[in-house]
Amino acid sequence: MKGADGYLCQSYFLFAMSVTPTTRKRVTTRRLIEMKASGMPIACLTAYDAISASLLDAAGVDVLLVGDSVGNVVQGYDTTIPVTLEHMIYHTQAVVRSVEHALIVTDMPFMTYQVSPQEAFRNAGRLMKEAGSGAVKLEGGQRVLEAVRLMTENGIPVMAHLGLTPQSIHQFGSYKERGVDEEEADAIKRDAVALQQAGAFAIVLEKIPSALAAEVTKLVDVPTIGIGAGPSCDGQILVWTDMVGMSTEFRPRFVRRYAELHSVITDAVRSYVADVKGRAFPTQEESY
Ligand code: KIV
Repeated sequence: MKGADGYLCQSYFLFAMSVTPTTRKRVTTRRLIEMKASGMPIACLTAYDAISASLLDAAGVDVLLVGDSVGNVVQGYDTTIPVTLEHMIYHTQAVVRSVEHALIVTDMPFMTYQVSPQEAFRNAGRLMKEAGSGAVKLEGGQRVLEAVRLMTENGIPVMAHLGLTPQSIHQFGSYKERGVDEEEADAIKRDAVALQQAGAFAIVLEKIPSALAAEVTKLVDVPTIGIGAGPSCDGQILVWTDMVGMSTEFRPRFVRRYAELHSVITDAVRSYVADVKGRAFPTQEESY
């Protein structure tokens, strides 16, 4: 790995070090801020259960988000609105039990942080204390600043989330790109700065124009984590089942499919069904 200024060599070396099982240290919020400062991209994915979280962790992901997308991916809902704090505690506990290196961040579900900063603080505390999460994430700008301040002043790291915030789907009316007009773009920039001032350690930017994400990334010292927000963000996040191609229906342009597990799993299960029905499974060797 040769880079004109040695940067590529250094970042490749640091990456290799960070995924070597024996030397990888637990990722912390401070580490993420250092990664931004040194120009090292941050790789994040969602996770909802022990077996997949352990695979993703071993493969070198820096941050695992127990997202409220669990509502869509695991629970079969159309939106994230029905997800409860108890659901998030349950899924986070499963992820925490199987992860050694990645920072685990848990989404605060709809109506667990909107009523008052005190209630938000208490619920975030449950995600840390009962579920064992390393940080919480919540959606919004101005309206969540007090809650973010209260949490961060009391030792709860907060990841913010701007742009397309799926818990506001009924207000937005669609999952279209946000921050397209000047007024909304300016609000996103103001919110990002205010969230950093309130103590947020990172900001997810979802489905906003790349140029706006690049501006926000320059404006703040904390890392921006993009999903459908272009290449200038300090890190990227995807829903892990999307990037391995588990479903055939959801194919937005911001999802790169690194595998086609939908067909791999379907073929495997078809073969199993055929073997059981044809009495080809199990054999004597597979029996006791
Ligand atoms: O819930 C989720 O999965 C998310 C991300 C994809 C950012 O919020």
